[in-house]
Amino acid sequence: MSQGDLGRHSAAHDRDAAHDRDAARNRGEMTVHGEAGPARAWIRSYAARRGRRSALTLERVERFLPERRIPDGPLDQHAVFGRVAPLVLEIGCGHGAAAIAYCQAHPDHDLLAVDVHTPGIARMMAAAHDAGVDNLKVALGDAVFVLRDRVRPGSLHAVHLFFPDPWPKDRHAKRRFVSAFTLELISSRLAPGGVLRVATDQELYATHTLAALEAHGGWDVVIGDRPAWRPTDGFERKGIAAGRAIHDISATRS
Ligand SMILES: C[S@@+](CC[C@H](N)C(=O)[O-])C[C@H]1O[C@@H](n2cnc3c(N)ncnc32)[C@H](O)[C@@H]1O
Repeated sequence: MSQGDLGRHSAAHDRDAAHDRDAARNRGEMTVHGEAGPARAWIRSYAARRGRRSALTLERVERFLPERRIPDGPLDQHAVFGRVAPLVLEIGCGHGAAAIAYCQAHPDHDLLAVDVHTPGIARMMAAAHDAGVDNLKVALGDAVFVLRDRVRPGSLHAVHLFFPDPWPKDRHAKRRFVSAFTLELISSRLAPGGVLRVATDQELYATHTLAALEAHGGWDVVIGDRPAWRPTDGFERKGIAAGRAIHDISATRS
């Protein structure tokens, strides 16, 4: 093969690779290279939502996001929270009832709430403002990338994952947030003795989580340790009303 052939070949290869990457991204899949482990296929754990944001959401975002969002780059806790306190990351905070309740019950801790859903984050920021909660900051985006790129290794006191999307169908199981990859990422970001708390009203998700923790290893797992500060609204109330049990799993990094 001549030099020219090689050049053409590599340009075509680059184009194909870029095309594959774009197609995968549109399907919600991507290869993530990170220090937390080997490359893996990142798969979107949330439904892609389209549509216009309401005037209320836009107003809340404009008013509250500048003071609540963490700046780009690795998190500088002192710069963001004005102190270095035990730091909790909540993944998929929704409209933030649990995040706000945690902050109120633990004024000496700080919490970073992450979600991809802007209306939920907007509602949480407005509620936090009304309640005078200032130990709560937000990141709008996929928690995988927040964990990987913004949170320093060994820096988290706890990670909360409450009522994650269950993706109950077998063919969607790969979309569940808990996976070998995310457990490794979370484990690397927790401080020694840090805790991952998962709550779900879906037995299938509890079974999935326990199996993933067991397969990953390095966790002391306790079942049924419901934190008293968590409000009983939202998915917890709906689950109980529908006759489902609430499964609380806490896994301490050993
Ligand atoms: C079923 S809702 C539960 C919300 C909240 N935890 C509650 O209990 O009300 C799941 C939430 O997780 C969010 N989510 C799913 N995957 C996520 C990810 N990879 N990063 C950030 N948020 C995610 C969704 O946008 C949604 O708001």
